[in-house]
Amino acid sequence: MPNPQNYDVLIIGSGGAGLSLALKLADHSMRIAVLSKFALTAGSTYYAQGGISAVFGADDSIESHIEDTLDAGAGLCDPEIVRLTVTHGKSSIDWLREQGVVFTEEQTESGEIKLHLNKEGGHSHRRIVHTADATGKAVSLSLIERAQEHANIELFEHHNVVELITSPKHAKESEKRIVGAYVLDSKVQQVKTMAARVVVLATGGASKAYLYSTNPQSSTGDGIALAWRAGCRVSNMEFMQFHPTCLYHPQAQSFLISEAVRGEGGKLILPDGSSFMQHFDPREELAPRDIVARAIDHEMKKRGIDCVYLDISHKSEQFIREHFPTIYQQCLEFDIDITKQPIPVVPAAHYTCGGVLTDSYARTDITNLYAIGEVACTGLHGANRMASNSLLECLVFAERASEDILQKIAGILPPPPIPDWDESKVSDSDEEVVVSHNWDELRRFMWDYVGIVRTDKRLSRAMNRVELLKKEIAEYYGNFRVTSDLLELRNLVIAAELIIRCAQQRKESRGLHYTLDYPETDNGRPAQNTVLTPYQAGRS
Ligand code: FAD
Ligand code: SIN
Repeated sequence: MPNPQNYDVLIIGSGGAGLSLALKLADHSMRIAVLSKFALTAGSTYYAQGGISAVFGADDSIESHIEDTLDAGAGLCDPEIVRLTVTHGKSSIDWLREQGVVFTEEQTESGEIKLHLNKEGGHSHRRIVHTADATGKAVSLSLIERAQEHANIELFEHHNVVELITSPKHAKESEKRIVGAYVLDSKVQQVKTMAARVVVLATGGASKAYLYSTNPQSSTGDGIALAWRAGCRVSNMEFMQFHPTCLYHPQAQSFLISEAVRGEGGKLILPDGSSFMQHFDPREELAPRDIVARAIDHEMKKRGIDCVYLDISHKSEQFIREHFPTIYQQCLEFDIDITKQPIPVVPAAHYTCGGVLTDSYARTDITNLYAIGEVACTGLHGANRMASNSLLECLVFAERASEDILQKIAGILPPPPIPDWDESKVSDSDEEVVVSHNWDELRRFMWDYVGIVRTDKRLSRAMNRVELLKKEIAEYYGNFRVTSDLLELRNLVIAAELIIRCAQQRKESRGLHYTLDYPETDNGRPAQNTVLTPYQAGRS
């Protein structure tokens, strides 16, 4: 049986990581497919605000960027990966400019035009290259445009990967390798087979496992769950990053107030107008995110308040409107004039530091399966990602994966024939409400029990609920035709399970993982990454 859609490289995800890789491969005469489960702009990349870290400042250095990243990562970054990533900062920005991305510039006193650099938490220097406060939109739209122009790239919107396909599951071969994916075309509700020599996961993170998140709908941990079910190791999932400042307003779902606002002098204050960060860290508002988010959480719980406030109103109106046009406009729509009033803010789940374990070429445990961007755990972030290092990681590991793929693609056998997706034993669901109820329940207990502050008891409560949900979802999945919502829920519950399992294994507080049962960092022995292996853990 021939495979109807055969590609050289199948890239799952059209964010910064996926599209960068597609563009880096496309001139090498290969057939590339890029999938997005919603529109091409669906991922977190489009919403990125602050920018991309890279050393451009005259007073800055690669060594300083490395040191800040290692410091934020609380002993768990891989120093070689940090060096590799940071040294590619400038070339990554140059490459984006070649793709048409326009970054904000400034004129120096001597009349020279240079990149304007933002400052963010954990960075000891100004080193964030940006496009005002909508960097992700600028990056995303340019990359999409370039990809649309390229004859070797086929873009598929509303194509949701159901399952990865490995061989020898479907052929008589000895080595387990990736050969494609089953994909739900959600516009026509049909599952099709897409075969490929190489498959790349670029599916983003899992922050939607939490009730409050800065992320768009797409961040349901799909790539992590797909890789886990296929047999890949997953690492450091306990390190979920909570961004300190998400707009707090009943109608404003998921709107981020960039850390760059604090970089330009924004102060965090309590409802009575007093500041509090000086009690938590000498770097105050510009301490790494874990510290700032925990401080806000502490103040909110201690005082029983719904939010704290971020005040930038001491800056001139012109400065604010020039530097933060998107934030200014968005807040104004909720009747908050940030040039005159403080902004109500709360922490929200923002970034998945852990993920599918990869090496320095983005290779996973399965031959010819790669993972790049937020879905991966490369060793760059350790126990806490430093601001604006994520888009940089997307670009650098897209480059690394492209080098490896180009070097070996000619020697990879075409995929064997793959059986079609079998829907002969399932029917249409008559109870979609089960999916939405389970979804709400999952996100609420993850927020309550596996959030900024954890305990053993809370983690085990959450795990009990995960087990129940997994059973219900498995039954549902076995009996009914797949829908996008069901696929996301099925993946999200696995992501939640992996977060809890990793958190349960860490008997200390470190970086983003803080537990009242072990409030200190264990400095008595070398810091360890948490690594889960599917076969040992009993596959989900
Ligand atoms: P994404 O951009 O999230 O893209 C994921 C893609 O995968 C999407 O196309 C999605 O449709 C697709 N996908 C997912 N599952 C499936 C599936 N099952 N089938 C098919 N397709 C699928 N980082 C910085 O460095 N600097 C910043 O200033 C910054 N600001 C941020 C602001 C916000 C509000 C947010 C949410 C994040 C921010 N981050 C920032 C983090 C950064 O944006 C992300 O980590 C990064 O963009 C992730 O890129 P990605 O390509 O890995 O995934
Ligand atoms: C922000 O602008 O605060 C987000 C930056 C990031 O997540 O790296």
